[in-house]
Amino acid sequence: MNKAGSRHFVDVDLGDRSYQIIIGEEIISEAEKLIAPLRLGKKKIIVTDQNVARNHLISLRKALENGGHDPVDVILKPGEQTKSFSGLRELLESILKLGVDRDTCLIALGGGVVGDVAGFAASTILRGIHLIQIPTSLLAMVDSSVGGKTAINTPQGKNLVGTFYQPRLVISDTASLRTLPNRELLSGYAEIVKYGLLGDALFFEWLEENGDKVIDCNPVAIAHAVATSCRSKALIVTKDEREGGVRALLNLGHTFGHALETETGFSETLLHGEAVSIGITMAFDLSVRMGLCPGIEARRATSHLKKIGLPVALKSIEGIDWSSDRLISHMARDKKVRNGNINFVLTKGIGKAFVCEDVHMADVKAIIDKNLNS
Ligand code: GLY
Repeated sequence: MNKAGSRHFVDVDLGDRSYQIIIGEEIISEAEKLIAPLRLGKKKIIVTDQNVARNHLISLRKALENGGHDPVDVILKPGEQTKSFSGLRELLESILKLGVDRDTCLIALGGGVVGDVAGFAASTILRGIHLIQIPTSLLAMVDSSVGGKTAINTPQGKNLVGTFYQPRLVISDTASLRTLPNRELLSGYAEIVKYGLLGDALFFEWLEENGDKVIDCNPVAIAHAVATSCRSKALIVTKDEREGGVRALLNLGHTFGHALETETGFSETLLHGEAVSIGITMAFDLSVRMGLCPGIEARRATSHLKKIGLPVALKSIEGIDWSSDRLISHMARDKKVRNGNINFVLTKGIGKAFVCEDVHMADVKAIIDKNLNS
């Protein structure tokens, strides 16, 4: 990673599918300058949603127009419903109506929903057109815009249909985070903490000191946190692009978290990062119960999540009648189950996560029940 002021450049090394993530303040307005060196085609299609369009579309359009482009846009309805068969179909038809060729470049401007569905569309139109991700949520900046996973939801579950399709460039403008509600920022922050906890104890220590600044969107702190997270993810994706092994570490807290989200219907009741925060707490507690991790390390992880304002206990989520049996049955149906085994990401301490295939469900149940009564 190079640094120029508070601008960061992270390389994702994937041979002929390599790309760069550029992180900085107010860089949407420089989009044309950042995209030009890639020598992509002249035709640019911006895919965004109504909320993001209000805040950032004019600035992106202006940047592209100043570079002699005449971008067109497709504006989606905001919300998870857009990431569906019908949402994808509408998007594909809108794009095809605009006319595309193999040099057309699709720019996904928005949070995880826009990035996932637009990425999926880009991967299938003409069997693949250029894709640029401009994530505008913290969650999308540190996770979904990097690494090439695209997906839609189906009635059978979340992200069950998708592709691996790497973007040509990711532009993360940290100024766009200032329009986010605090709860959404915190939700993204849970994924940032995850990188420290899974493999970078020094970064976790830095977050303990500077987490408040990140949540306050201090430009230097947030750029460092996003860049460090992206660098961790880039290293993992470089080793295991299609999640045959080490990429599973990115699921720390997610096996529990996904079950909680299934129970709450992937709704506003529990945001993804909130579920991950409780999930990380349970993964550490399970590791302690199995004699793998010192209790003091688990307490340190949980206490940081709590201090920053993330939930760590099920009972802090109001209106849900939690049941450990039901959560376990959700886990058994998770797409991460392999040959009938639920693989958990456990840890030997802060920065020492590993994938464990040998977990007794009685221990998992005990941990959920303990959390329920905490
Ligand atoms: N969000 C986990 C991954 O990209 O593998």
